[in-house]
Amino acid sequence: MAEEAVLGFLEKNEQIIDSGVFAEEQGISHDEIVNVIKSLNGFRFVEAQDIKKERWQLTDEGKTYAANGSPEFQLFMAIPPEGISIVELKKKLGDAVFAIGSRQANRNKWLEMGKSQVSRKVEHVDDNVKAMLVKIKDGETLNKEDITALKGRKLISPQIWKGYSVKKGPNYAPKRRKPATDLTRENLQKGDWKEMQFKEYNFSAKGLPVEGGCLHPLLKVRQQMQMIFLQMGFEEMPTNNFVESSFWNFDALFQPQQHPARDSHDTFFLREPSTTKTLPEDYVERVKQIHESGGHGSRGYGYDWKREEANKNLLRTHTTAVSSRMLYALAQKPFEAKKYYSVDRVFRNEAVDRTHLAEFHQIEGLICDRGLTLGDLQGVLYDFFSRLGMSKLRFKPAYNPYTEPSMEIFGYHEGFKKWVEIGNSGMFRPEMLLPMGFPEDVRVIAWGLSLERPTMILYGIDNIRDLFGHKVDLGLIKSNPICRIGLN
Ligand code: PHE
Repeated sequence: MAEEAVLGFLEKNEQIIDSGVFAEEQGISHDEIVNVIKSLNGFRFVEAQDIKKERWQLTDEGKTYAANGSPEFQLFMAIPPEGISIVELKKKLGDAVFAIGSRQANRNKWLEMGKSQVSRKVEHVDDNVKAMLVKIKDGETLNKEDITALKGRKLISPQIWKGYSVKKGPNYAPKRRKPATDLTRENLQKGDWKEMQFKEYNFSAKGLPVEGGCLHPLLKVRQQMQMIFLQMGFEEMPTNNFVESSFWNFDALFQPQQHPARDSHDTFFLREPSTTKTLPEDYVERVKQIHESGGHGSRGYGYDWKREEANKNLLRTHTTAVSSRMLYALAQKPFEAKKYYSVDRVFRNEAVDRTHLAEFHQIEGLICDRGLTLGDLQGVLYDFFSRLGMSKLRFKPAYNPYTEPSMEIFGYHEGFKKWVEIGNSGMFRPEMLLPMGFPEDVRVIAWGLSLERPTMILYGIDNIRDLFGHKVDLGLIKSNPICRIGLN
């Protein structure tokens, strides 16, 4: 209706001089007229020019005086012809009205103020202030002096009124036809597309944000890791058991039962079910032997190996537990060389901080073949890490109960310009492999690293809790694209 009114008026008239007046004449709200003018102006149907007018409106104080009379008038009216004590008058009016009222009435010379007594100096007064305030309220105009006086007393404040004056624009038409946004089958069949006006494409309009799911950075890096392993000819190990027995997690790996890692301070043990049901008995016997008294040229640890300790269930502390199961299974068949990998979750009873969580992910790789050497391990590690973008490696002798020799792996981070620790590795000990049943000349080279660490390096995250766990930053996870850059 407002649109028709504006366009219709301009068909017969040169211009709308004042949208406020126009709105009133048409009986349409000014807001509605303004909206239509803005829209028509945008499409150049009309040309609108701003008009601003300063108007006055009553302040809250002004409003009360317009209703109840000015304080000076109230005060004057409260004084009886014989006069009144100041104390009494204050009581009648309240402190605020008395204070303002007496000041203004004195200024108007309406009062005779004694020390304690007040009386009228004139017989009759008019409440001009109230009269002026009522005029402002009714939208009438006042002269400059009166405005200044009311403004000075903070009884009125300016209000900017905005409106438009409107003329025809270059695209003026008495009616606006909505351009079509779609060309339909019907339009084609009827042939009305020939007359239709189509909305132009807005190539700079923002698309809707994609609210789909998104892959977690850990999943993306895991995918990359898996691709690297697969390209290098590795097979994935089945890691779908978080619960493991101490036997496969520690004993099979020649980790003595007194080892500090086997303490509940470091490992989460299960309350229910607290022990494992079955273990391969003859192999268990060989593991017990190698721990207690050695064999195959080893002296063993020389302690009393306890089955109850091996039976205890835990949340696996490393995926090397899966490697030990896989290698045992492999050793039960005629020998075949294998390359295995896994990427999955492990658990450690650790104090959580910027770089540690009680659960994280491990990447694990191993190669089992006859006559492998430490040189083979280093060669594979160079191959693996250079595929991740780290081609400068250094090795530092280390200790693991299950590997000898063992090496920590450091990679040169080209971005950080420093060496960072990236993994742990070694050759599995004969004390681990021979009780499983492997031929004497079979060697297993293996390495492990966390998935979180390279992910944090790749994504520039310095607090692991932003990446994983209950404090994870969902915004970060949503906004991070798939990383295409290497670790360097
Ligand atoms: N299990 C080791 C760890 O948790 C990693 C590792 C795997 C080391 C294989 C040597 C060989 O850190």
